[in-house]
Amino acid sequence: MSRPYEKVVFVCVHGRTCPRQGSLETCEVLREGVSEAGLRDKIRIVKSGCFAQCGHGPMVAIEPEGIWYRSVTAEDARELLAGPLLSGTRLERLLHRPESPGKNVIPQSQWHIPPSEQDS
Ligand code: FES
Repeated sequence: MSRPYEKVVFVCVHGRTCPRQGSLETCEVLREGVSEAGLRDKIRIVKSGCFAQCGHGPMVAIEPEGIWYRSVTAEDARELLAGPLLSGTRLERLLHRPESPGKNVIPQSQWHIPPSEQDS
């Protein structure tokens, strides 16, 4: 046996923006989908801290493929579960393609936070 899981899917749920952009729901959809597919021993969904890509979220990273997605809604999570996550292919429209490596935080004035999640 080489490793305990075939894939580990990290979902940012503790940073400044992703939780306010729906990442907890994204994470729950992924967990439920993996469970319903009977893949809990193969795919681990992990609640993660900030990826330093704030404002692009919800952010999701899949290892060992090294695939990073941005703006992953609950509906997008269902689409990932319907194919790309299981097959190892990429969902091109959600790929995170930062202009430079490392930290890529969008200025706060450009964050897309739903009104219900904004600071009062
Ligand atoms: S809050 Fe998710 S990348 Fe920072």
